Amino acid sequence: MGIGLGARLRKAVEKGALRRINNGSGKGICVAIAAQKGGVGKTTTAVHLAATLAEHHQLEVLLVDLDNQGHVASSLRSHVRGIAPQTVSSVLLGRDPDLTAAVVATNIEGLSITSADRNLSQTEAQLAGRIGRELLLKRAMVAARHRFDVVILDCPPNLGLLTLNGLVAADHVLIPCDLSILSLEGVDDLIDTLQNLDAMFGRSPELLGLVHTRVDRRNKRQNSTIRRAVADRYQGHVLQSEIGVNTALSGAQLVGKTIFNASPSAKGAQDYRALGDEVVAQLWKERAVSAA
Ligand SMILES: Nc1ncnc2c1ncn2[C@@H]1O[C@H](COP(=O)(O)OP(=O)(O)OP(=O)(O)O)[C@@H](O)[C@H]1O
Ligand SMILES: [Mg+2]
Repeated sequence: MGIGLGARLRKAVEKGALRRINNGSGKGICVAIAAQKGGVGKTTTAVHLAATLAEHHQLEVLLVDLDNQGHVASSLRSHVRGIAPQTVSSVLLGRDPDLTAAVVATNIEGLSITSADRNLSQTEAQLAGRIGRELLLKRAMVAARHRFDVVILDCPPNLGLLTLNGLVAADHVLIPCDLSILSLEGVDDLIDTLQNLDAMFGRSPELLGLVHTRVDRRNKRQNSTIRRAVADRYQGHVLQSEIGVNTALSGAQLVGKTIFNASPSAKGAQDYRALGDEVVAQLWKERAVSAA
């Protein structure tokens, strides 16, 4: 891994690349990537947002896979170095209630991930009867928030207990949304869930924004209908950056690399880099200059 957590951030701050002014507490920021609809690009967004924050913004980033499909680790398999002593399941079940025990390094400076965990569905069922079951991840993240500048959570395609743990642990939620009516209905359900969390726990993550993903720019009429519906409902919360359909993204996934590594000049790489810039600017409330 890089040259040590705060050190890289401090170096970036000294260089004027980033000014960390969000809370001054020295605690990492947690962003959940969540959407109820399957296949909208949650994992692709989580992987590339994490990678660009590490690679182009010099942040120490942890990417946490909360989905038993294990797509984070498979998307990054050419970059992963080592094996973690614990899994997210064993952390949530309390065997070692510290998420950093489930962390493995990658050869991308500043980026670490949790390994694939095929038992997560079983774990979710096992946790169903526990008191405080929605708070397990939040509690397990204390050390991770000190070690990492940003923790990104890739949530599964449902609003089950693992997603709830992600939303309760997160400070912000980013919602990938393709330009389909089903995706939009899923966003409504997720927003309802955030309101329920607020009622239950007195807090819920702030909406970082909706990001349009897998945009096929040829479908002009359908795109503009959905865009209008999204803008009507969520005005002011739709990010400017959007991710177009780009086969280089699925190609990169096929070889287990980020698009920044596999096809750095592809449109998908530019789109995700722009998204990273916008997210950093929002999170740090100041224009951040890419350090690369
Ligand atoms: N912008 C894009 N252009 C082309 N292909 C994409 C794009 N975004 C995602 N894909 C491909 O679509 C598929 C689904 O993407 P991804 O796994 O990121 O979605 P997801 O929302 O995480 O799915 P799930 O709900 O199953 O977790 C993958 O094969 C991915 O490579
Ligand atoms: Mg996924």
